[in-house]
Amino acid sequence: MPSTNPALAEGGTNPLALLREEVARRRAGGVDLRDLSIGDPDEPTPTAVRDALRAAVGPVSSYPTGPGRLETREAVARFVARRHGVTVDPASQVLITSGSKEAILHLPFAFVDPGGPRRTVVWGSPGYPTYARGARLAGGAPHAVVLTEADGWRLDLTRLDEDVLARTCIAWIGYPHNPTGATVDLPYLRDQLAVARAHDVVLCSDECYQELWFDTPAPSLLEATGDDARGALAVLSLSKRSGMTGYRSGAIVGDASLVAPLRRLREDTGTASPDFVQAAARAAWDDDAHVVERRATFAAKRAVVLDALAALGLTWSGSAATFYVWVRVPGGDDVAYARGLLDAGVVATPGRAFGTGGEGWLRLALVPDVDGCRDAMGRWADALRRGQLPV
Ligand SMILES: Cc1ncc(COP(=O)(O)O)c(C=O)c1O
Repeated sequence: MPSTNPALAEGGTNPLALLREEVARRRAGGVDLRDLSIGDPDEPTPTAVRDALRAAVGPVSSYPTGPGRLETREAVARFVARRHGVTVDPASQVLITSGSKEAILHLPFAFVDPGGPRRTVVWGSPGYPTYARGARLAGGAPHAVVLTEADGWRLDLTRLDEDVLARTCIAWIGYPHNPTGATVDLPYLRDQLAVARAHDVVLCSDECYQELWFDTPAPSLLEATGDDARGALAVLSLSKRSGMTGYRSGAIVGDASLVAPLRRLREDTGTASPDFVQAAARAAWDDDAHVVERRATFAAKRAVVLDALAALGLTWSGSAATFYVWVRVPGGDDVAYARGLLDAGVVATPGRAFGTGGEGWLRLALVPDVDGCRDAMGRWADALRRGQLPV
């Protein structure tokens, strides 16, 4: 029998993958479903971005460079300056990635010493599962800190035991937060940075949802660092900001002394972003108007869903930013509730799919258009009326 990397099995079967299989089975059987489960909304990619991609497809295809083209890194630096008021050097502080998932997965390979005393990677649960997956695959030890509603779903490094911090090489924070939609402020980010710096921990901020705020612009870790990015890395993505999930484009920005080993690693991963995708990425990073529109679109969908939930007597937590709504499950059984909703034609994700601490919650993703969201909530109301869901 060929051997396999035990870290693959340790991750367990992804509950999201199981849900997708069930949804696909029902769809294949002709069942009409309103899908509020996957973070991949239906809105089109901006025309200028699509045009930039098409125009950049030339007759000859060459290998892209590991760190990304300088002009793409410059576009990211312009975005960081414009949006966060921080100056970064595109040559030494920015790398272009193929989306942020692969960047998050690969990042521990640069900082975990599998045989050393500092193998721990801290992350908040419920959270994005790739923080733990990447840690395990790189020979690290993921350390999940269970997040609570009482703490506003914040991972607070100031409360970690000294012995945990002494073992930790990487800490992941990620706000606005998937799956809860919780947000943080600048003082929180400054506190986390101070702890990380005091303990030589690389503080990584997953900023995939940074641009999807409703009332107050979400701060970046880069705002907490100012022009001294020591100890900090922010992982950016165009997927949600610009409706570019299929393009796979993101960036890592931060401390030049941390970017250097990542750059060395990324020369080996073969995940360099294709040049034509980078042309589209430059068009996206340099434009903010389409992001304003996207925010308004998600705000409209969010209003429909929150109004409907309130009318049904349901409550939510976090849900201040991102396109997720984090709903408290009556009766507390998120898997049973999600199954009941599926029977009613609505796909939602049980909170436990995002790890310990997610039990008793459901994540709704505002994927369909406004009418689709309204229809989904109508189906939910019908199911409640028919007594098919716990109250
Ligand atoms: C919290 C979080 N981080 C990162 C990602 C990865 O996004 P992408 O690889 O599309 O940039 C996702 C995707 O849903 C996410 O939810």
